[in-house]
Amino acid sequence: MKILVLNGPNLNRLGRREPEVYGNTTLDALHEHLIQYGKTLGYEVDCQQSNIEGELINTIHEAEDRFHYIVLNPGAFTHYSYAIRDAIASVTTPVIEVHISHVYTRERFRHTSVIAPVCIGQITGFGVYSYDLALQAIGHIGDSERM
Ligand code: DQA
Repeated sequence: MKILVLNGPNLNRLGRREPEVYGNTTLDALHEHLIQYGKTLGYEVDCQQSNIEGELINTIHEAEDRFHYIVLNPGAFTHYSYAIRDAIASVTTPVIEVHISHVYTRERFRHTSVIAPVCIGQITGFGVYSYDLALQAIGHIGDSERM
């Protein structure tokens, strides 16, 4: 099973960015961990990051024929990007929305996700372990019927 882990804006700053909120793990370390952890679960995990909305949209479109699942942390786009929401709705690939911080305990604007209604689920608040939980969830759901 092939899984794309896709990280959105400012997540390249992980490890240096507000460590009291997002922890000390760098994006490179997180990606390396997810590739290795994915292997133990029998997955081929590919990790990508972009700060650019259009690039994330293109990556979601291109993922349809290449991946069984997308694990997506859309960063702040979560809260207002109808374009990313529509990109997810335009592909058959199931998407799991992931957040490092517990968005519902933070500022009000973070309490809304325009992405969640087009995702199969949302995991929020478990630090970088949120991504591990998403990979575990996929193991329980199994192969999508599409590929
Ligand atoms: C985030 C939460 C968002 O509100 C924020 O804009 C981010 C990171 C998280 O992983 O906790 O960039 O998606």
